[in-house]
Amino acid sequence: MLRVVVMVSGGGTNLQAIIDKTASGGITNIQLVGVISNNKTVKSLERAKAAGIPAVSVSPRDYENRELFHQALLEAVDGFSPDLIVLAGFLVAIPTAMVQKYENRIINIHPSLIPSFCGVGCYGLKVHEKALARGVKITGATVHFVTEGMDEGPIISQKSVEVEENDTPESLQKRVMEQAEWILLPQAIDDIANGRIAVENGRVIRK
Ligand code: GRF
Repeated sequence: MLRVVVMVSGGGTNLQAIIDKTASGGITNIQLVGVISNNKTVKSLERAKAAGIPAVSVSPRDYENRELFHQALLEAVDGFSPDLIVLAGFLVAIPTAMVQKYENRIINIHPSLIPSFCGVGCYGLKVHEKALARGVKITGATVHFVTEGMDEGPIISQKSVEVEENDTPESLQKRVMEQAEWILLPQAIDDIANGRIAVENGRVIRK
């Protein structure tokens, strides 16, 4: 049984997809042991509570400096003894010490087809603003392992989504979440929990 911690920053729709798929048997062999948010007052903490999952918030505002915040964040993660850490709309850069300690055990959902529209400053709605500004006809989402770089880790899965003529960043974000994110992230967790994938030479392979 894989112990899974989910890290969130906002609405928690990806967290909800994981909760729902676990309840329906779409994800097997995991236990959702904790939710960690960097914001105190977000809907994602309510979602965790409603699902009976222990939730804590670790806010940068409560610490004198970044280093102390990073230490507190890692302590909160360690406290759940996770086998897998899932960044589900988590908007804080993961401390190097945490990436090293949990190598190939942290995954992230990014709302574009990496390597397009990713990296520093590319998160949430900004990703879709850039996709629309570039005029791409296809976008999508990517699940990848987290490494020290931003959105540079081995890619686990991707799913494409059509861009429509009159899309706004909001309408495109909604479609990418519904048609890609909420499908890819639970599937990746289920694949990892059931030993279907591994990382070899920086690439994800299917066993
Ligand atoms: C979504 O755009 C997701 O792609 C990104 O964070 C945003 C909010 O996700 N990673 P959620 O509703 O908090 O899961």
